[in-house]
Formats: sequence, C-alpha cells, structure tokens
Amino acid sequence: MSEPALEIDSLTLTLHGEDGSPLFPVRDFSMRIAPGELHALVGESGSGKSLTCRAILRLGPYAMRIAAGNIRVGGVDVSQLAERRLHRFRGGRVGMIFQEPGAHLSPSIRVGRQIVEALRIHTECSRSEAYRKAEAIAERVGLTPARSVLRRYPHELSGGMAQRVAIAAAVICSPELLVADEPTTALDATVQKSVLELIDELRRDLGLAVLLVSHDLAVVERYADSVSVLYAGSIAEQASSEEIFRRPRHPYTQALLRARPQLGDIAPVDTPPLIIPGAPPALKAIPDGCPFHTRCPAAEELCRTAVPELVAHGGDSGYSRVACHVATRVAGVAGET
Ligand SMILES: Nc1ncnc2c1ncn2[C@@H]1O[C@H](COP(=O)(O)OP(=O)(O)OP(=O)(O)O)[C@@H](O)[C@H]1O
Ligand code: SF4
Ligand SMILES: [Mg+2]
Repeated sequence: MSEPALEIDSLTLTLHGEDGSPLFPVRDFSMRIAPGELHALVGESGSGKSLTCRAILRLGPYAMRIAAGNIRVGGVDVSQLAERRLHRFRGGRVGMIFQEPGAHLSPSIRVGRQIVEALRIHTECSRSEAYRKAEAIAERVGLTPARSVLRRYPHELSGGMAQRVAIAAAVICSPELLVADEPTTALDATVQKSVLELIDELRRDLGLAVLLVSHDLAVVERYADSVSVLYAGSIAEQASSEEIFRRPRHPYTQALLRARPQLGDIAPVDTPPLIIPGAPPALKAIPDGCPFHTRCPAAEELCRTAVPELVAHGGDSGYSRVACHVATRVAGVAGET
C-alpha cells in the first residue's frame, strides 16, 4: 500500500483563553488520506476544521500550539520543520486554497507573475520555462486564453477566475496534498460547481490527495471518498463517504444529515427535519463526558461522565469509526455492556 499523503495521529491543539488558561480547539484527532483520495471535514461552525487545516500548514494563529500528536505529509513530520523550510513546504508539498479567492493574491502584481513566483520558489526553472508552465497550468484550470488572463491584475478577475488562479498556484509545483478550506463558499452556485469539478479532476489526474472543508453536505456526498465529522474539536464519526451517507451511526451525523435541505435517500421523505436543540459549546465550556450530550436526543447517564472512545464498526462499504456509547452498544462491537 502506498504511503499516506497526509497522516495525523492523536493531534491536540491548544490556544490560550483570555485569562491565560489553555483551550483545546482540536482534541485527539487522527486521520489518513491516501494519494488521490478526497477527505472532507464537516461540522458546525467552531468545530475546529480551519485550525486543523492551519496546523497542517503551520500557519498559526500565533498562539496555537501542537500540544500532542503529530502531522506527517508524505512522511515528513510537519511540527519538526525548521522555519526556513516551511516556505518550501507550503506550496511545494502542500497546496492551499481558502474561502476568499483574492486573499492569496497581491493586488498590484499581475496574476501570471504570482503563479510564476510560486514555481520559482520551489524549483530551479528559468523565468521563461516558468512562464511556459504557468500558461500550461492556466489552460489546464480553465483560465483561457491563458496568455491574456495571466497579464491581468487580480481586480480584473471574477471570483471564480481568482479561485482558479489560486488553484493553479497551489498545484503548479505538483504537491502531494491540497488543503481547501471552504474554497467555494464565497462563489455563486454555478461557479461553485465548476471549481469543485476542477478540484475533483485534478485529484484524479494528478493523484492529488485533497482535504476539503465544506458546510455543504451535498458537495461532500458528491465528491468525498471519506469524511470526518467534527463536534467541538473531537471526531464524532469518521468513515467512508458511503457509510456516512447510507448509514450514519453517530447521533450528531444523523442530525446533520436530517437537518440538511435535501434528504435524498438518506431518510424517508416524511421524516421531519431534526432541529438540533441548542448550540455547540464555547471552547472554554466543553462539557465533561460526550461533548454532544447536552444536545443529544439519545443521551444517557453514562454520556454525562464518560468520554466515548472512537470505536471501529463493521462497514459493508468501507470503514467507519464512531465515538458514541449508544452506537457502540447497539452495534454490539467493542464496549458492549
Ligand atoms: N485566533 C484564535 N484565537 C482564539 N480562538 C480561536 C482562534 N481561531 C479560532 N479560534 C476558536 O477555535 C475554535 C475552532 O475554530 P475554527 O476556525 O477551526 O472553526 P471552524 O470549524 O473552521 O468554523 P467555521 O465553520 O465557522 O469556519 C472556535 O471556537 C474558534 O472560536
Ligand atoms: S455518547 Fe451519548 S450523548 Fe454522545 S452521541 Fe452517543 S448517545 Fe449521544
Ligand atoms: Mg473555518
């Protein structure tokens, strides 16, 4: 089996609260992404999706630290990289795109030069060779006519084009991993689809592993091979996409799926949408026991005191790991009482 493109083991991140006390926005998080696999991170706002992405890239925030665990990209331990090597690591081994398409682009520099600079930081190629490659990648990501588009300034691009430029700059050095944190949220619906199709094509054609953060479960179902459902910084459920969408096992996953506008064939059409009562806990007030117990319709006494372990469940169509006392007992796997 090939080495994972991304491997995270028992990652715990800390930040400092206003009174200086430690906060834990991500706790005991593990995952693997194989080359060519698209893994989605989902969960309500504040569940730790962006901080996980930032930790992979060592992109702060300044006060954030890896308190435990490790992150490896293509076998390289990210936490051990010296500051001077980070520059080459970002963009070289890991490409990144974020929500605001223009956020990566300097407003006063033509976009072609910005893509070329990305290449010249990471490779030895000459300027003319870099421009040839920039034109080729621009054509590949649908920026046509490439020569003319590359001469434009960022403000002369639509949001969709700017996101394509960001993707071109992110993949021009053939990274093994693309981290995409809500890459289409700021775009309108038709442009969203074309940008997601592009990411999916690049994944297939280049064998690129992709970590995609999205709030849109229809997008996740369409594109992801595997999914981590995060709640208050912990994995509630992690499974192949097939298992998550056909047989969600964690009450939080079930609630997310039933709360989405399009139920599809997940649940009977006459099932009323489940409104999850309450809101996710603040970082400084994550409850003891199962972090979801204050909102969970299936909570029992045990849930208030004991943190459920992430337990493997048999899946007909891929793997499934679930952190829920009740799901574990119902399935009759390890932890049965
Ligand atoms: N710089 C920071 N300082 C203090 N707390 C932060 C900082 N950045 C994020 N947090 C907190 O860490 C938690 C996780 O934040 P994160 O941005 O990873 O959430 P998210 O899942 O990406 O949410 P969203 O879906 O809204 O983007 C949140 O409670 C957030 O308020
Ligand atoms: S462990 Fe308990 S509170 Fe947590 S999701 Fe399962 S049933 Fe609900
Ligand atoms: Mg975020």
